Amino acid sequence: MASEGKNLIGVDIGSTSIKVVEIKESRGSRKLVRFGLHPLPPETIVDGHIINSGAVVEGLEKLFHKVRRRNVALRASGHSVIIKKIAMPLMTPAELQEQIGWEAEQHIPFDLAEVHIDHQILHRREDEGQMDVLLVAAKREEIADLTNLAVEARLKPMCVDLDAFTVQNVLEVGYGVPQPHETVVLIHVGASLTTVNILADGTTAFTRDIANGGNAITEEIQRQLSISREEAEAYKCGGDGRGIVPREVPEIINTVVEQLAGEIQRSLDFYLATSGDRDLTRIYVSGGTANVRALLDSVQDRARVPVEVLDPLRVAQPDSKLDPMSLQGRTAQAVVAMGLALRKERERRNA
Ligand SMILES: Nc1ncnc2c1ncn2[C@@H]1O[C@H](COP(=O)(O)OP(=O)(O)OP(=O)(O)O)[C@@H](O)[C@H]1O
Ligand SMILES: [Mg+2]
Repeated sequence: MASEGKNLIGVDIGSTSIKVVEIKESRGSRKLVRFGLHPLPPETIVDGHIINSGAVVEGLEKLFHKVRRRNVALRASGHSVIIKKIAMPLMTPAELQEQIGWEAEQHIPFDLAEVHIDHQILHRREDEGQMDVLLVAAKREEIADLTNLAVEARLKPMCVDLDAFTVQNVLEVGYGVPQPHETVVLIHVGASLTTVNILADGTTAFTRDIANGGNAITEEIQRQLSISREEAEAYKCGGDGRGIVPREVPEIINTVVEQLAGEIQRSLDFYLATSGDRDLTRIYVSGGTANVRALLDSVQDRARVPVEVLDPLRVAQPDSKLDPMSLQGRTAQAVVAMGLALRKERERRNA
């Protein structure tokens, strides 16, 4: 990927909050110069659809108050995009460009007139006369809704990316590209969506979205204890401010976490059964729900490989002017915005 120019400001509009990250890069060193998080009211975004656009625009305006630069990279919800890895006969990038629409028709269950197709060559397998191509289809209307919102908040959207790829960006820049013999699993667990991205031979080998996340834990605490959403959320995050958590809470968390970890493990099992890959090397977890220790333990117990929380500060350390408290307990939530903030003003994806 060729890239130059200034970094874009990363804007991750999630279902529970908007996260903004700005990185300054000079002479090969990066600094984190801005981090902002604006909570969104419940039901602002449901199943990836922005229901209350006013709340999002208002949040963006608050976060960008006093910010002069407005070129941003946005995160698109996995609900509006389909990613597929497909095998095709070897051909040149120009030939591929010509054929990709026809190929997409076979693999994408949307009306092609309604989607924007992007692709990237992952691997050329010369000996087999085949190559692996990553096909990305985004629903035009939903992407337009997203960029229009940003424009309404007086931002200039320059590119749109997905959780899976932004997290991968953070891994590659912060930790280095995995070695060819390694299989690294990235699991991003937000409030409503979990994305699994498995990297083998240095590139994406498998991705899957699971419509489940931290919300399920909050909802179960709320239901079982008959309390408000806010109280349930506070209990989940470690207390109600006075250090008192009802004794049922850890048990409820464990039950929901077991379900989610089970769904994640099914994806890992599916990958292992179909790829010929023998084992996984390491698992990194990110997103707000990475703060739930029981989830990390449960994933590790099932997969039997080390599980770590992905640290976005390995990409860029906070600048001295940034209030360190603003990041306290929020780093796992900042990963997608950090990955977006690595994108540059002038960038060209090859292939
Ligand atoms: N300390 C904590 N303990 C437990 N859960 C936490 C903690 N901090 C954040 N969370 C949970 O993380 C989730 C929010 O994470 P994140 O900001 O990554 O989601 P989002 O981007 O808004 O949602 P999505 O991408 O799924 O639409 C919420 O469910 C929240 O309760
Ligand atoms: Mg998110």
